[in-house]
Amino acid sequence: MKITIGNESKTSVRVEFGTTDDIRFVESNAGSSLRIPPQKKEPTQRTQLKLIRTIVRSAKERSVKVVSVDWGMISVGIPESKIAQFAEHLASHAVAAGYDFTVFKTQESKRKIENIIFTNVPEKNVNEISAAIKNGVAMGEVINEMRTIMNTSAGDLTPEHLADAARTQCSKLPKIKVTVFDEKRIQKEKMGALWAVGKGSTHKPRFIQIEYSGGAKNDAPIVFVGKGITFDSGGLNLKPSSGGSLNEMHLDMSGGAAVIGALHILAKKGVKKNVIGLIPAAENMISSTSYRPGDIITSHSGKTIEVLNTDAEGRLVLADALSYAITHFKPKLIVDVATLTGAALIALGQNASAFFVRPDNRAPEIMEIAEDVGEYMWPLPMWDEYEYMVRSDRADVANIPSDGSRWGGVINGAMFLKEFVGKTVPWMHIDMAPRMDSTGRDALGKGATGEPIRFLVRLAEIFK
Ligand code: BES
Ligand code: ZN
Ligand code: ZN
Repeated sequence: MKITIGNESKTSVRVEFGTTDDIRFVESNAGSSLRIPPQKKEPTQRTQLKLIRTIVRSAKERSVKVVSVDWGMISVGIPESKIAQFAEHLASHAVAAGYDFTVFKTQESKRKIENIIFTNVPEKNVNEISAAIKNGVAMGEVINEMRTIMNTSAGDLTPEHLADAARTQCSKLPKIKVTVFDEKRIQKEKMGALWAVGKGSTHKPRFIQIEYSGGAKNDAPIVFVGKGITFDSGGLNLKPSSGGSLNEMHLDMSGGAAVIGALHILAKKGVKKNVIGLIPAAENMISSTSYRPGDIITSHSGKTIEVLNTDAEGRLVLADALSYAITHFKPKLIVDVATLTGAALIALGQNASAFFVRPDNRAPEIMEIAEDVGEYMWPLPMWDEYEYMVRSDRADVANIPSDGSRWGGVINGAMFLKEFVGKTVPWMHIDMAPRMDSTGRDALGKGATGEPIRFLVRLAEIFK
């Protein structure tokens, strides 16, 4: 999809606000237009990003190829100081809205929106806005490539394929290096938790390490850790066939893919920071070599873990990656991203990811970044009072509460990870399960949302 600044063309369809709630395509002597419903709410960046996505999807559904959108209409409510940043995300959201997962459609849909023209852009802003749009389109394209990897079924996307995707995404970019540990190396590195989760599958686990060195040699890096479970059957604690989202569990590597996408974009932009991506990748399957409920495993950190539920596998693979990050990189910040709990969906619905941050006075800053990029996040606490959740009778910690309590599952996930990050490094945990899958209300195309790639990129750009 091209996004340009200019005038309406002979082939373009103008977007206008209609008077009714329906979306209509109107042809008249004066030309054709796409009538979208009048906006009822006070315009904000939130409503405007949603609006551009709605425009793109409506145009696509009606086989419209070129649309023109009045800049004044789309940017209403955005302060002048934020206009370039808004333009970048407007473009990335527009490109994302144009996406559908069509790899396995043998008759590919011809519906494809080719060009969005923003008309009446004030002369003084043209340069700034067109540069921002260029960045935004590039970001949207990477996000869509990663969505294709997320949406690929688990039979076609094993841990090794995820490693291939990391290699392919990063191969032609400067200052970036990808290293992949196979199952032998994983055991040699004493990543006992990753090995336990992945050993029951014929597709053995991989540990993917992406190092981007855009900053000065001595600058401490930011480490992004992404959950890379290529399929989550639940293991011997098998997920139920209804209500357990089994058929969607190929998306359980979305956090890992988001990390690959973010590293790709940072390298492409040449951001002057050192950033490392770590993706523990495994398939959580059932066989005679699977790990069992009741098993006690020794993690990379040396801490022993009592496995009370094999479906709480994400926190296990992340535990090893987090302790690896601490011992190898002395990071100034660690951020982990994971489709970790169904409980996050219960808490927030499908509209926002849950996050935890240490020190917790940084939460407002995080929410602001999320708001700016259009990927919403809401904070939850990690108080000491919740430590009972990880106590074990038989090992150092347990992967779910040993007292049978079942409340606060999102917090339980965070409290478990906290055991492996040590006490000092600034750290953030994103439970993106609510944003694993898009809904019709997102105007994004079905399947993976591609979040929180924009958030990770922005965070790396501005974190001090
Ligand atoms: N991958 C799931 C979480 C999930 C569920 C993400 C549905 C998106 C949609 C995770 O590994 C899991 O199974 N979590 C369990 C934890 C429980 C056993 C403590 C859950 O949420 O039920
Ligand atoms: Zn699980
Ligand atoms: Zn999972």
